[in-house]
Amino acid sequence: MASPPPPTLADRFDQTVFNAVYSRALVYNACWEDPAVDRRALCLGPDDTLLVITSAGCNVLDYALTRPHSIHAVDANPRQNALLKLKIAAVRRLGFDDFRAAFGHGYHPRIRELYGDELRGELSPFARAFWDRRIAWFGNPGGSFYFHGLSGIVARMFRAYLSVRPRLARSIRELFETRTLDEQRVVYDTRIRPLLWTPAMNWTLSRQITMSTLGVPHPQRKQVIAQHQRGVAGFIRDALDYVMRQLPVSTNYFWSVYIHGRYTDGCCPEYLKADNFAALKGGLCDRIHLHTSTVTEFLQDNALPISRFVLLDHMDWMSSYYPQALAEEWRYILRRATPDARVIFRSAHAAPAYLERPELGDGLGPLRERLLFHPALAAELQRRDRVHTYAGFHVADVRP
Ligand SMILES: C[S@@+](CC[C@H](N)C(=O)[O-])C[C@H]1O[C@@H](n2cnc3c(N)ncnc32)[C@H](O)[C@@H]1O
Repeated sequence: MASPPPPTLADRFDQTVFNAVYSRALVYNACWEDPAVDRRALCLGPDDTLLVITSAGCNVLDYALTRPHSIHAVDANPRQNALLKLKIAAVRRLGFDDFRAAFGHGYHPRIRELYGDELRGELSPFARAFWDRRIAWFGNPGGSFYFHGLSGIVARMFRAYLSVRPRLARSIRELFETRTLDEQRVVYDTRIRPLLWTPAMNWTLSRQITMSTLGVPHPQRKQVIAQHQRGVAGFIRDALDYVMRQLPVSTNYFWSVYIHGRYTDGCCPEYLKADNFAALKGGLCDRIHLHTSTVTEFLQDNALPISRFVLLDHMDWMSSYYPQALAEEWRYILRRATPDARVIFRSAHAAPAYLERPELGDGLGPLRERLLFHPALAAELQRRDRVHTYAGFHVADVRP
């Protein structure tokens, strides 16, 4: 398999911007991957030890509710782990109403006091330094934590756009009040779709800077363009058409939180439900261990047998710039994997080239020969995926 074409000057510039933005920012203020789909793919049990990339930590808390033996939440970006650390501190130290106000509604009127009295002492030095300067993100009555971080900035920009498109804004409010799929389709097809997909919207979505702010580096954007005639805007349009026409919006907290800036009791992640919060507080949170490192560094430093790997779409990030690092990461995954280990991950391309490419070395042969994929299961689960912005969802068992 031919290696990827060398990046152009424009690519290098985009990547420099992306790295500069990333090395300083909290990117994901909420996980943009559906844990309900992941749970069905992972079939978690009490003996399972998971390696999960943290992102915003919502899904780490979700998997903990299935009572696995332990979860290692790993992220190369310490700010992502600082968010999960704050969530875990809040589970341990706050009551449900205060917790829900902060992480459900994105706003708590007494957040500074709670932070100083209850949360700050539970945090690591990095997380403390990070939240000392940003805890106010939860303290703005007219705003929300979910409008902060890079993904939050895009949500805020879309809300500003809606403030000058009142008809579209009204229809989107109406959409989230619909109670049946038929009602939903009528509102979407007749009052949103025709108004949303303007040349200006298509142009904005096809800019690399928009994608970078959304956590999509240019190699990933190119993967989308490579498989969609209408480019990124066309891909997002098809994804939204599917989500808004095939899946009930009333429980789709992924899109709802960025429109409303908050979750509701009926439309929220599992960790924000009272019983689940009590279970996490009752000890399930103690099964979560956080690590700020790359996946490879964690596996190099910890000779732990891992039975479940949740790798998100991070390999899209590595495949173009660090193909050797990606092959090394797989060598360590295979080295630490238990005989019944399962790996799940997502990708911008339905059939990412990196699955075909890496000769793993160490006599391990090509990656594809070391994994047993379950395409039918993956396809069936992807149809339920409430996020639906990844062309590829992969479920694979490690071949002994
Ligand atoms: C592509 S994003 C995934 C975000 C995810 N799609 C979401 O929306 O929740 C990748 C996440 O993995 C982290 N990451 C990227 N490469 C990594 C690596 N080699 N090891 C550990 N974490 C990594 C990034 O910091 C980021 O939080």
